[in-house]
Amino acid sequence: MKTLIKNGRVVTAVDDYKGDILVDGETISMIGTELSMEVDRVIDAEGKLVIPGGIDAHTHMDMPFGGTTSADDFETGTLAAAHGGTTTVIDFAIQLKGESILKALDTWHQKASGKTAIDYSFHMIVTDLPHERLGEVKQLINHEGVTSFKLFMAYPGVLLVDDATIYRAMSLASDQGALVCMHAENGVVINEIIDEALKKGHTSPKYHALTRPTKAEAEGVNRAIALAEMAGSPVYIVHLSCYDALKRVQEARDLGIPAFAETCPQYLFLDHSHYEQENFEGAKYVMTPPLREKWNQNELWTGLKMNDLQVISTDHCPFCFKEQKELGKNDFTKIPNGGPGVEHRMSLVYNGGVVGKRISVNRFVEITSTNPAKIFGLFPKKGTIAVGSDADIVIFDPEKKMTISAKTHHMRVDYSCYEGVEVQGVAEWVLSRGKVVIEKGKYTGKAGDGKFVKRSHINLSYGHPSNVRQEMALARS
Ligand code: URP
Ligand code: ZN
Ligand code: ZN
Repeated sequence: MKTLIKNGRVVTAVDDYKGDILVDGETISMIGTELSMEVDRVIDAEGKLVIPGGIDAHTHMDMPFGGTTSADDFETGTLAAAHGGTTTVIDFAIQLKGESILKALDTWHQKASGKTAIDYSFHMIVTDLPHERLGEVKQLINHEGVTSFKLFMAYPGVLLVDDATIYRAMSLASDQGALVCMHAENGVVINEIIDEALKKGHTSPKYHALTRPTKAEAEGVNRAIALAEMAGSPVYIVHLSCYDALKRVQEARDLGIPAFAETCPQYLFLDHSHYEQENFEGAKYVMTPPLREKWNQNELWTGLKMNDLQVISTDHCPFCFKEQKELGKNDFTKIPNGGPGVEHRMSLVYNGGVVGKRISVNRFVEITSTNPAKIFGLFPKKGTIAVGSDADIVIFDPEKKMTISAKTHHMRVDYSCYEGVEVQGVAEWVLSRGKVVIEKGKYTGKAGDGKFVKRSHINLSYGHPSNVRQEMALARS
């Protein structure tokens, strides 16, 4: 099957030009101007951006958590992702305590295989890493294409691992060409604060946020970076939410330490005041880390501009308001943590970032696609528009407006965190490895179109994406 995409404005992390793209089978085979050849299909992209498919490096489909399971499975969640212009998700498999890590990977392969609309890959959440299991981790990195791991400093008794385990995992990761992603929050102290709140009868959703101070996140980030330095390894902080935590990453990067971090749309567009919503509706925003005071948003945008934050992912972990969030009606600690987001990341970031004049269109592509591909071992197969790369392509209408609503979204969840919000910038056509899966906003693919992608080894210890702020300071000196 040959498809010619004509007259679009091709935008990558570094380019911006008018051109035509020939897709032959699953890959891009030619880029030029006024291309004319016999093809099966021509798509006119006049007036549209032609960008690499979005890569969401942080999703939780079909994830058992908080006494229930996230509402999107791999079929519904990836279909929703495709609608929004995301063509690859990196989801989290979970090793239960005491369980074989290879068995955990197998469980997640069974959940996803044959179900997805777009390509997918896995990080592994490691909850238990005695020396005897290091061989399994090597097997994952060197043979199974799972080259990143998430470790938790939060959720004592469930997911939290101690510092020795973190150091061990980081040492192994750096030795084997993998990366540790850190949920950086001091969960032990947070649990103390939660106990104090419950004793005072503070049970409503807002106490989820009030018991997870920004200092707990900053301490986690600080410790994660220090442990990574001791292990001689890079570190990637997930779902960074606030200035206190960002400052720690900035300080490390100014010293040349390979610390990387993502933030998420919820921390850029939503804030602490959402917990005040009546009738328990504040529970819709119970996620970890929690939403912060609004002033943090500007600081996060600055972090994105200056490259102290390199990625925007969603942490998509949806639970329905009815029956799932309601589990915590009388006790905020029983509200399953997480919110929906995979469908609207590209539009929200384009609208808030590019239309809002906070970032360039190249930076938009870089933080939503190219950087996640580079950091997680998918580049240049994914994350760019180049000859030989997978034809994961989004034809994005930069003028079209859309109002976000649970009535029209495709995620299997009964609310939206952005209900009624109008955004400018909508994915119109989406090609996943050359196949049109979204055509003028309508899904044309099928479950099973997506494939598991083995990721390459990762080496961010040297030549990590430059720190713009540091370069500017050097230039001034
Ligand atoms: O609240 C959240 N973020 N739920 C998903 C699990 C995690 O920590 O990423
Ligand atoms: Zn987390
Ligand atoms: Zn998460």
